[in-house]
Amino acid sequence: MEPTVDSVRHFDTRPGSAVYSSFVLKLYDAWVLGISNRLAWRCGTRKVLLPFYCRHVGEHHLEVGVGSGFYPSHADLRAEHHQVTLLDLNEHSLAAAARRLGHPPVAPLVTQLAGDVMQPLTMLEGRRFDSIALFYLLHCLPGAMNEKARVFAHLKGHLAADGVLFGATVLGDSAGHNWFGRALQRTYNRKGVFDNRHDTLEALRAALSLHFAEVCVEQEGVVALFVARAPLHRFDSHES
Ligand SMILES: C[S@@+](CC[C@H](N)C(=O)[O-])C[C@H]1O[C@@H](n2cnc3c(N)ncnc32)[C@H](O)[C@@H]1O
Repeated sequence: MEPTVDSVRHFDTRPGSAVYSSFVLKLYDAWVLGISNRLAWRCGTRKVLLPFYCRHVGEHHLEVGVGSGFYPSHADLRAEHHQVTLLDLNEHSLAAAARRLGHPPVAPLVTQLAGDVMQPLTMLEGRRFDSIALFYLLHCLPGAMNEKARVFAHLKGHLAADGVLFGATVLGDSAGHNWFGRALQRTYNRKGVFDNRHDTLEALRAALSLHFAEVCVEQEGVVALFVARAPLHRFDSHES
């Protein structure tokens, strides 16, 4: 059953986003994309995540949870082909990613939108995208996977007919963490930066399958890589 309007719990999404100050964002690539991805999560940025991103990013692209903007700025997006919309709760992340993407005429046209993806996204009204990326966003969101799934409900109506929603997320305690991953995982969950201790590949697949007819979920190290197409709209009147 999908959550109805009455059963939707209110979550505090600030801890998963507030940590990304300008200072933290300067260290983000080295610490998260360099050290943590390789040694803690065992899913290499340049070997696995960036190629996966480049395979799926489309011409009209929505980037949700933008962080430092590493992926769109390394995906060879061109002004003549691409338009990028950045959506994030944190204004420092938006500014850092937009700065990194550059400006037309060399870089793609970039639109910045401030918003919480756990809330209905009225600022996207009437807009559709060829691709929507959620990289390292779900593990920052509060609640169980079936509650985080409300982001799929909010985003699926903004996919073009043959559009793709794709992303990556660090899985929880049962994913097979090494000692370094377990230590980071424990610290981040204690601080509220992550809320993923109970996130599993199966729960992610189930959550995506409620909203999309075509779902592919794979695990690399302790990271789930997911691709979803063909949105299902059967429960839309109940979604918040
Ligand atoms: C771990 S960073 C991921 C950055 C980038 N996608 C990457 O993979 O390197 C998470 C980003 O998601 C944003 N974020 C967290 N919770 C959010 C929410 N509820 N709505 C929108 N953005 C959120 C944070 O502000 C931050 O920029």
